[in-house]
Amino acid sequence: MTGSSDIRLMKILLNNGSGRMPALGFGTLIPDAAETITATRNALEAGFRHFDCAERYRNEHEVGEALQAGMAAGGIARADIFVTTKLWNTNHRPERVEPAFEASLKRLGLEYLDLYLIHTPFAFQPGDEQDPRDQNGSVIYDNEVTLLDTWRAMENLVDRGKCRAIGLSDITLDILLSIYEPARIKPAVVQVESHPYLPETELLEFCKEKGIVFLAFAPLGHGMKPGLLEDPVISAIAARVGKTPAQVLLAWAVQRGTALLTTPRTAARARENFDISALPEDALNEINRIETRQRLNPVVKTGIPGFIARAS
Ligand SMILES: NC(=O)c1ccc[n+]([C@@H]2O[C@H](COP(=O)([O-])OP(=O)(O)OC[C@H]3O[C@@H](n4cnc5c(N)ncnc54)[C@H](OP(=O)(O)O)[C@@H]3O)[C@@H](O)[C@H]2O)c1
Repeated sequence: MTGSSDIRLMKILLNNGSGRMPALGFGTLIPDAAETITATRNALEAGFRHFDCAERYRNEHEVGEALQAGMAAGGIARADIFVTTKLWNTNHRPERVEPAFEASLKRLGLEYLDLYLIHTPFAFQPGDEQDPRDQNGSVIYDNEVTLLDTWRAMENLVDRGKCRAIGLSDITLDILLSIYEPARIKPAVVQVESHPYLPETELLEFCKEKGIVFLAFAPLGHGMKPGLLEDPVISAIAARVGKTPAQVLLAWAVQRGTALLTTPRTAARARENFDISALPEDALNEINRIETRQRLNPVVKTGIPGFIARAS
């Protein structure tokens, strides 16, 4: 970790020397196009400098438009923001990786990406249909490509200077190891669901040992209620330190050495989610002792993102 004691500005060093990732990240999984634009502008104005996108979210164009406008209005340079996007499951075949990357880059209106992730370790039938299904409604997987084949194509993108770092998402430690060991360019980041109900301690320890950034999505438990935002331990700490439950959860994530992605949709929530401050040690320990365990997102087992509306 680097940065000041102000945890809002914390940055985490990437293991390939390409730079640092701001720990506080804004996620762009927002189904509505107009809302994507306002939420992205709000996030930039609130202080977020790390933006997480994906081909699968079908809104890279809107995110790019909002970033260009917001950067121009705020006098923010490209080098001051960190942008990630992700390769979707239907583009795992090596010959599809570079075209998919270039298409994302074009939609975002950027000249390079700070980070490109394989969205999930599951390859789907290649093609334009992002959610290929058979007559029974079952996903059609692609057995003709391995994750390592896809990783080699990702390494080539780094070699060609197209993106600064590469990584994986929705993986287990076993899958990470299966790539980490043979990789010529080691994964710089892993993006997985993580919050006090799913601390993923073993994976986090491995990442820390290898200098891989552990990037937590669903730090607020996707905002589900009942859920983390109403957890009695979190609420009691929030009342004690004069912060909101969301701010407590985000601070805990940063202070345990992870980066995180949160998706506030209004300007007020963007300011709230950026305005975090360090929790005292006893509060961190209380959160670490929470025993509830819950995985909200089954994507790690199937590659199927059940939370995204099907294409209309
Ligand atoms: N790799 C993957 O497979 C994967 C999967 C899921 C997500 N992601 C990434 O992670 C990002 C984060 O998404 P997430 O769902 O995990 O984010 P999150 O911040 O944990 O949850 C978002 C939900 O929390 C609510 N919320 C936000 N700020 C709040 C606050 N201050 N107080 C109360 N509720 C609040 C939002 O409600 P409102 O909408 O009402 O504001 C929304 O329902 C995504 O945008 C995406 O970039 C990646």
